Amino acid sequence: MIPELSNPSVCMRDPQRVQEILQSMVKAGSNTVQVISDFDMTLTRFAYNGKRCPTCHNILDNSKLISEECKEKLKELLNTYYPIEIDSSRSIEEKLPLMVEWWTKAHELLVQQKIRKDMLAMVVRESDAMLREGYQLFFDHLYEHSIPLLIFSAGIGDILEEVIRQAGVFHPNVKVFSNYMDFDDSGVLTAFKGELIHIYNKREGALLNTGHFQELRTRPNVLLMGDSLGDLTMADGVQDMENILKIGFLNDKVEERKQSYLDSYDIVLVKDETLEVPNAVLLYLT
Ligand code: TMP
Ligand code: MG
Repeated sequence: MIPELSNPSVCMRDPQRVQEILQSMVKAGSNTVQVISDFDMTLTRFAYNGKRCPTCHNILDNSKLISEECKEKLKELLNTYYPIEIDSSRSIEEKLPLMVEWWTKAHELLVQQKIRKDMLAMVVRESDAMLREGYQLFFDHLYEHSIPLLIFSAGIGDILEEVIRQAGVFHPNVKVFSNYMDFDDSGVLTAFKGELIHIYNKREGALLNTGHFQELRTRPNVLLMGDSLGDLTMADGVQDMENILKIGFLNDKVEERKQSYLDSYDIVLVKDETLEVPNAVLLYLT
C-alpha cells in the first residue's frame, strides 16, 4: 500500500483497518481532507544528537529574557510535572488538575518577566527549536493541494508562529489555535489571552463556534497527528466526520506507553524523528 508503513518505527494494531481508512479517504478526494496536528514534539523534534529539543515554553524558559532565578523555578516545574505528564500509571482524570497547575504556575512566572514582544523573533532564532525532518515537504505539499492545516497547541502561539515563519512554511492554509500572549501598549507581556489550553482540554468545539474555522468544519476526512493521548480529542469539533486517521509519535517511555498508544492511535511512530510517514500518507491521499 504505502511502502513507508513498513518502516521499522511503524507500529499498527490493525493494519487492515488503516488500509480501509486510507482507501476511503482517497475515494472521498483531497478536497474533503484536513490535517489537525499538535505542535510540540509532533511537528517539532523530540531530540537531536541525543539532546532534548525545546517545546515552545522551553524556548522562552531557556532564553536570556528570563532571569536566572525564574529559570530555576521553571526548571523545577518541568522536573515536577513532566514526569507526571508521561506517567502511564496515572489516569487522565488524575493528571488533569496537575497539568492545569503546571500551566498556570508557568504562565504566572513568565508574566512576571516583563517579556517584550519585539524580542520573541530573536529568542526563537537563537533557540534549538527544530521542526521534524521532512517539514518542508509536509507544509508545502498541504499548501499546494489547498489542504487546511490546523495546528492545535497547548504551547505558546506567538512562539510557535515564529518557529514556522522563520522556517518559511507559515503558509496561508495554516491556522493556529494556541495560547497567545497579551501585551500592553508598550509591548510588554501582561497576561495570556482567553481560556487556557493545556494538554487535556484540546477540543475543537469551542473554537469552531468562533466562525474563524468554518471551512474546517466541512472537511469530514481528518488526518490527526499528536504525541500525547490528550491530542486524540483535537478533532472533536469536526461535523459529520467520515474518516479519521490518527498518527501518534511515541517519543519517550516507549515500553510503558506502547500499548495505550497502539490502542488509541491507528499508526504509532516509535522514536521516529521524521515526518516521513505522514508525508507518505499525504502523497497517497493527493
Ligand atoms: P502540546 O504539545 O500537547 O501542545 O503540549 C505542550 C507541551 O509543552 C507539553 O508536552 C508540556 C510542555 N510544557 C513545557 O515544556 N513547559 C511548560 O512550562 C508547560 C506549561 C508545558
Ligand atoms: Mg505535543
